[in-house]
Amino acid sequence: MKFWQKSLVAAALTAATLAQAAEVNVYSGRQEELLKPMLDKFSKETGIKVNLITGKPDELISRMQSEGRNSPADLLISTDVGRLYRAEVQGLLQPIDSKVLTDAIPAALRDPKQQWFGLTKRARPIMYVPGKVKPEQLSSIEDLADPKWKGKICVRSSDNIYNQSMVAALIAQLGEEKTQAWANGFVKNFAQPPKGGDRDQIKAAAAGVCDIAIANTYYLGGMFDDAGDKAAAEAVKVFWPNQQDRGAHINISGAGVAKHAPNKAEAIKLLEYMVKPESQSWYAVTNHEYPVVADVKWSQRLESFGQFKAEQLQLSTLGELNAKAIQVMDKAGWK
Ligand SMILES: [Fe+2]
Repeated sequence: MKFWQKSLVAAALTAATLAQAAEVNVYSGRQEELLKPMLDKFSKETGIKVNLITGKPDELISRMQSEGRNSPADLLISTDVGRLYRAEVQGLLQPIDSKVLTDAIPAALRDPKQQWFGLTKRARPIMYVPGKVKPEQLSSIEDLADPKWKGKICVRSSDNIYNQSMVAALIAQLGEEKTQAWANGFVKNFAQPPKGGDRDQIKAAAAGVCDIAIANTYYLGGMFDDAGDKAAAEAVKVFWPNQQDRGAHINISGAGVAKHAPNKAEAIKLLEYMVKPESQSWYAVTNHEYPVVADVKWSQRLESFGQFKAEQLQLSTLGELNAKAIQVMDKAGWK
């Protein structure tokens, strides 16, 4: 091949690479239906094709780890800060410097090292059965360790990350010793050995197994939309704990750009798109999650759960204290 021929081939290759570059590979621990319409809109507006791979968050993290430098992943989307933190400490993410993201997302809801960003807020309040419990009897999460609640509480198992993060938040704010004492008492108040997911705790309360369930708000919201679960959803009410002190426990779903992202610029564009007010309100309406961006309207359902004061913790702490939280739960005999 002559030199000019080689140059032509090289130019053609560069053009091909550029044409292909307008895409982004998303590894998502969130279900497809909770993302796809927003991603389609993003593609339409930007011309960037989104290749979506969904799976269990922990499996996607392992997959990125085994793929190493060859991983096609650009963006990892996950629920719960505990998992995003895990991906970060395993070296799977990279810091992103974006004024759009830091301006839109409150500092407590994103990584201080800028490796992950909260995209939606979720809350884990107390849900109670009116008629069996009066709201005046409820106050804080701490109070649920009191023997007066013996046999009255439904909550899922300790291998669930939402519970691990909730306990990590207690350790951060009360210290390990007090949290251990709390966990010991709390476990004694379980109505049954933990089983099933958050929805199952609400259903158990509705069925009379317990008077109080601990669950994330979007599960309750989703049950109202689901004909089969609507009656159970109507049987409980939300109580916001710790409103006189630090606020109710919250968590996030969020995302981070992969360490070896082949399409880093597109991944950042997508992240920035997800904090636009339209995207934020779409999330809130579709999955009953709270926007991370200020001044975005809540869905009617979220409004019906009421306003609340949220914990102000830097959420990366929940990842840092995850192992300790698991220890505390184990010691307390939380199955
Ligand atoms: Fe969930």
